Amino acid sequence: MTVQAPRGTQDLLPGTTEKWQFVERKITDLCRRFNYQEIRTPIFEHTELFQRGVGDTTDIVQREMYTFTDRGDRSITLRPEGTASVVRAFVQNKLYGSPTQPTKLYYFGPMFRYERPQQGRMRQFVQFGVEALGSKDPAIDAEIMSLAMSVYQELGLKSLKLVINSLGDTESRNNHREALINHFEPHKEELCADCQVRLTKNPLRVLDCKKDREHPAMATAPSILEYLNEESGEYFQKVQNYLDHMGIPYEVDKNLVRGLDYYNHTAFEIMSDADGFGAITTLCGGGRYNGLVEDLGGPETPGIGFALSVERLLMALDAEAVALNENSGVDCYFVSLGDKAQEEAVRLTYELRKAGIQIDKDYQERKLKAQFKTADRLHVKYVIVLGENELENNQVSVKDMESGEQQEVALCELVTYLIKALQGDKQDGK
Ligand code: HAM
Repeated sequence: MTVQAPRGTQDLLPGTTEKWQFVERKITDLCRRFNYQEIRTPIFEHTELFQRGVGDTTDIVQREMYTFTDRGDRSITLRPEGTASVVRAFVQNKLYGSPTQPTKLYYFGPMFRYERPQQGRMRQFVQFGVEALGSKDPAIDAEIMSLAMSVYQELGLKSLKLVINSLGDTESRNNHREALINHFEPHKEELCADCQVRLTKNPLRVLDCKKDREHPAMATAPSILEYLNEESGEYFQKVQNYLDHMGIPYEVDKNLVRGLDYYNHTAFEIMSDADGFGAITTLCGGGRYNGLVEDLGGPETPGIGFALSVERLLMALDAEAVALNENSGVDCYFVSLGDKAQEEAVRLTYELRKAGIQIDKDYQERKLKAQFKTADRLHVKYVIVLGENELENNQVSVKDMESGEQQEVALCELVTYLIKALQGDKQDGK
């Protein structure tokens, strides 16, 4: 039997990788405009980082991590998300010491979760994420959400919904926690085994349980918004005011709790409203995590961020039939005939590439007609033809594939000629 890729993973093939590159370029450009800088952290970390960072009562830590013991007897985990790693790197590299704060970071990279694969849910997926560390200004919460929305909007998506909630500060959460225990305690025996443990350890996680989702007590559970103290309530109001000022529409969903333990105050998700998007509608999730930096050994530093998967982003683009303007091909193709011409074609192709021109040539020793066919298939703008006759005259013939016109060009002028022609095409919007 032939070996297949593991369940929940995928090969990205030419034709698709161009879309990924296009999206990554767009997002990188957006990050620059918002002044976020790239950070790259290891793909595996000590397991303890996620147990402490993400929280050991979460689904991610309890059953979704790829964890193994390495040859040095250490427990290692393939990262299931990026925030814990970024915070670890922030602490370890003392980024809090930089004079420009907040520290505004972004990352792209594969994440690993042992989930049941379905459309939009992979075991290896690529997250783009953003973290702003060192500010508790509600304006940065709004900035983070505006950046997340801009990613989708600038790529051309329209059917989007921003949903926000507040999980409050420690005091508000403790009050809510007590209310949740009182609410669920009479139903304890009806809940799943995990939720029975969660009820005492971390009752907020009960609201997030996939198994007990339909239990009637879920719908009537007390909402955190009713338990926000004055400070948390004011903070949440300010975040909303900034969103209003920026003209970003949103909905408050008092049941939004998010699946990771580090959140407090602002929590948000962006959903796709597009018909045919599929069962999983969440495109992006994030929130504030004041306290995480201290939990991972750093000085008191507030933080907020979000992450989205490129897989779900591309699904949304498909669902809304947005065509990306990615440029995948080459501009020119070199066609040559005869051994001497082939030698010269190899040299000239290299010359042209060094000059910045996107060009390919034949490597199958094909006849002239077949080489032209390939050029057609590649949708090139110019074909450069070199046969024995041209070679004798120290020139090539350049064919404009759109107009069909053919021009003789001296070998020594070919680079300048093509650069000029391609620049002219660009100005004409071709
Ligand atoms: P999360 O909600 O677990 O949050 O994941 C964020 C996003 O990653 C989801 O909205 C979804 O787009 C994508 N995602 C998650 N799991 C999968 C999967 N199995 N297959 C495909 N896509 C998936 C976090 O990871 C937090 N670290 C976000 C954050 C950053 N909060 C603050 N800063």
